[in-house]
Amino acid sequence: ECLDALAAASGHRQWDEIRVSVLGKSGRLTGLLKQLGRMDASERKLRGAQLNRLRDELTRAIEARGDELEAAALDARLIAECVDISVPVPTGRRGGIHPVSQAVEEITAIFGAMGFAIAEGPDIETDWHNFSALNTPEHHSARTDHDTFYLPAEADGRNRVLRTQTSGVQIRTMLGNEPPIRIIAPGRTYRADHDATHSPMFHQCEGLVVDRNITLGHLKGCLIEFLRVFFGKPALPVRFRASYFPFTEPSMEVDIGWSRKTGEIGGGEDWLEVLGAGMVHPRVLANCGLDPEEWQGFAFGMGIERLSMLKNGIPDLRSFYESDVRWLQHYGTDP
Ligand code: PHE
Repeated sequence: ECLDALAAASGHRQWDEIRVSVLGKSGRLTGLLKQLGRMDASERKLRGAQLNRLRDELTRAIEARGDELEAAALDARLIAECVDISVPVPTGRRGGIHPVSQAVEEITAIFGAMGFAIAEGPDIETDWHNFSALNTPEHHSARTDHDTFYLPAEADGRNRVLRTQTSGVQIRTMLGNEPPIRIIAPGRTYRADHDATHSPMFHQCEGLVVDRNITLGHLKGCLIEFLRVFFGKPALPVRFRASYFPFTEPSMEVDIGWSRKTGEIGGGEDWLEVLGAGMVHPRVLANCGLDPEEWQGFAFGMGIERLSMLKNGIPDLRSFYESDVRWLQHYGTDP
């Protein structure tokens, strides 16, 4: 009876009921074993041996059936919970590589091919790295021009700002490395300004070359080459226009040819400013322990969003930070 019931049991609960009804405290076999006490010695010996065999046999059968049911339950679960990896992924909304990341990748690839390494500096920068070492003393007008976010003074007595430019990485690189130096430094920058063409957080990419006998010719050749590759226009007109930055002398702004009417890069009569550059000021070299008689350098800085807007025809700077998936699908590139 027990073996039949076990064979018919279809789950753990039924199996457990059978087990208890046979081997449990008030189970049938347990009841039979209890009767042994009331028998005389010879009968008990015979009956005892039989009942012990029966108990061993049933215990084995119950255990075996338990294992079987457990394996069957596992099989059923594996089938029920199986994932079909051949089913195609639903083609839902998908973003893309953000245009800022894309531009950083392109800029990095171009300068990388010219032998530049990547350098980094902190977003929270000392006033000294962001301004003073860059030949921008206290009360210099450039400090107010930048709409700087000042941070509360810290215990070490150094005043800190959210860096208004990546130029502080020039200082960190010259202090930490022997020339020859050839680096670019992409990163976030901050200015308290907000409208269609200004964002309180934006990205710049700095560039710095320091070596012996570096001239304005190197600066021009390097930047013309970069701009032509970045915009994919081998004949892109590039113009260098005298300007002023405290940390370069001479300083210049770099324009590319474009058409105001059509917005086309490279065509038309008009000029568009795309970056700032210059020869590293001797005082900046000296601030970093480099003898300006021996070492010269050039530096440049560009706005990454601005370059991306021009290249991709993105009209509003603010759209870069709105995390709109439709915008990302449109202007982002496929990952
Ligand atoms: N840091 C300057 C700016 O933010 C750009 C620049 C970098 C100019 C390096 C010259 C050399 O406008």
